[in-house]
Amino acid sequence: MSRYEKFILKPDVRKTSEIKYHYDNAPGQRYVFLDSKKCPESSIYTIVRVAKNISPSQDSYIDPHTHTCDSEFLFIGDNDDMTGLTAKVWLGDEEFLVESPAAVFVPKDVKHTLQLIAGSGKFINIVPNPEYNKSLKGK
Ligand SMILES: [Fe+2]
Repeated sequence: MSRYEKFILKPDVRKTSEIKYHYDNAPGQRYVFLDSKKCPESSIYTIVRVAKNISPSQDSYIDPHTHTCDSEFLFIGDNDDMTGLTAKVWLGDEEFLVESPAAVFVPKDVKHTLQLIAGSGKFINIVPNPEYNKSLKGK
């Protein structure tokens, strides 16, 4: 019997709206790779959103919110050099156009949101709390 086999995990496709302040008009599919549901021992939440041919008219799907911990966004486009995905990211009252490949460090208590606006690729969110909703401080 393997001791650590339970830590090798396949992702679940889950609704975006299972997390607070997030809505199901999000582009593409949300894959939950790691959270407390997938692995009760985990101290980390990780999702990958896969989205193709994002329309510039794509609506926002996340209300601005804050967490009680730092977190990270990764933007990885479908090209070999990871270009190919464009997003808008808001940190506090500042707006940024982010071209993949890119990481965004989101400090705790800083209000943030994002919108995928063009291209194809993967958006990754890593939060050092295994229950996303419990990491939320508010809007
Ligand atoms: Fe967040």
